[in-house]
Amino acid sequence: MLKGKKIIIGITGSIAAYKAAFLIRLLVKEGAEVKVVTTDSANEFITPLTLSTLSKNPVYSQFTSDKESGTWTNHVELGLWADIMLIAPATANTLAKMTHGVCDNLLMAVYLSAKCPVWVAPAMDLDMYRHFSTLSNIKKLKENGVRVLESAHGELASGLVGEGRMHEPEDIVDSIKDFFNSSVWANQKVLITAGPTYEAIDPVRFIGNHSSGKMGYALAKEAAKRGADVVLVSGPSSQFTNHPNIRVISVVSAQEMHEAVIENYADANVIIASAAVADYRPKHVAEQKMKKKDSSLQIELEPTTDILADLGSKKQPNQLLIGFALETENELDNAKGKLTRKNLDFIVLNSLNNQGAGFKHDTNQITIIDKNTKTTYFELKSKEEVAHDILNTVEEFLG
Ligand code: CTP
Repeated sequence: MLKGKKIIIGITGSIAAYKAAFLIRLLVKEGAEVKVVTTDSANEFITPLTLSTLSKNPVYSQFTSDKESGTWTNHVELGLWADIMLIAPATANTLAKMTHGVCDNLLMAVYLSAKCPVWVAPAMDLDMYRHFSTLSNIKKLKENGVRVLESAHGELASGLVGEGRMHEPEDIVDSIKDFFNSSVWANQKVLITAGPTYEAIDPVRFIGNHSSGKMGYALAKEAAKRGADVVLVSGPSSQFTNHPNIRVISVVSAQEMHEAVIENYADANVIIASAAVADYRPKHVAEQKMKKKDSSLQIELEPTTDILADLGSKKQPNQLLIGFALETENELDNAKGKLTRKNLDFIVLNSLNNQGAGFKHDTNQITIIDKNTKTTYFELKSKEEVAHDILNTVEEFLG
């Protein structure tokens, strides 16, 4: 099954474009979500209407969908959306453009901004396929991580060897299924905390913080995208996900977050604590709304449980524990202190001194310090891209 997998099918101008229709139908039948990007010449071979009906999504072909209103197709969003991008059929022309970064249509823009694995299924006539230019383009693409579904060497109806012929849709679907099942994330259970906690003062007031939950949700989505099963324990947040591989448990207070985490940590292999948990809560919660008085007000606070430190003390050898540190001074030393104290595998440091990093922003600038004191600095990036970097580091540990 490919339930919840997000797949971009790029179609270029080859007679094999008709096979893309079968491919899309099979992928949708397996539960995948499919979005189709076509080139102008692909539209000569197969109609967008057929493709949108089969994929149950609009077909993207042009940069602007409505020139008068200025509506445009966001190729970066499409590139981030996908778990895998497959160009099938890929013509000699498209392979050449991919090799050299020629960006003269929407499909190439999506390809150049894709953050996911890219696959191509070449289709062309034998002479074009065997031409040194095409062969060297294919070689270069492979060297740079593009997976090339080399053309089948099967028999054509004419009895000729079918080099240059596109893979059959059934075989492509099998390869995609194998790919998702063999990912290091396929059997991982990931537990993530996200957002702020609210500590009640009385029925209408609380002590909270500015955490938006964006980082935690981005991590959950990225882990799910890579094939993990995710439990996301989230404090109050306006973020949203309906990814089938993410189970969201909504909590309000640090204590509720702790309880939800304890219920779910035992079978988690990877635990990421990105929540901004309150360190203190009011010792007594007033049952009725507190009335305004003339004198000053004192609220006695007591410490909450440090969830991450608790997990650190219970950590099993098969578990990776990752924490966050938000610092305003002595950043590296403070973060290293937390790494050791809480028994973490690595800690993600964000400094409020960096413009655009931390709460509420859509961007973040992080430094990762691991338990072997390896320190890696990253540039200011979107939280989705930061999630990518963090999970790549997790992958190094898992690998
Ligand atoms: N954390 C947690 N439970 C708490 C407090 C923090 O799980 N009660 C986790 C956060 O999710 C984060 C890490 O601990 O991953 C660091 O939190 P932070 O508040 O920066 O560190 P503290 O240890 O609380 O130290 P300080 O507030 O002094 O900076």
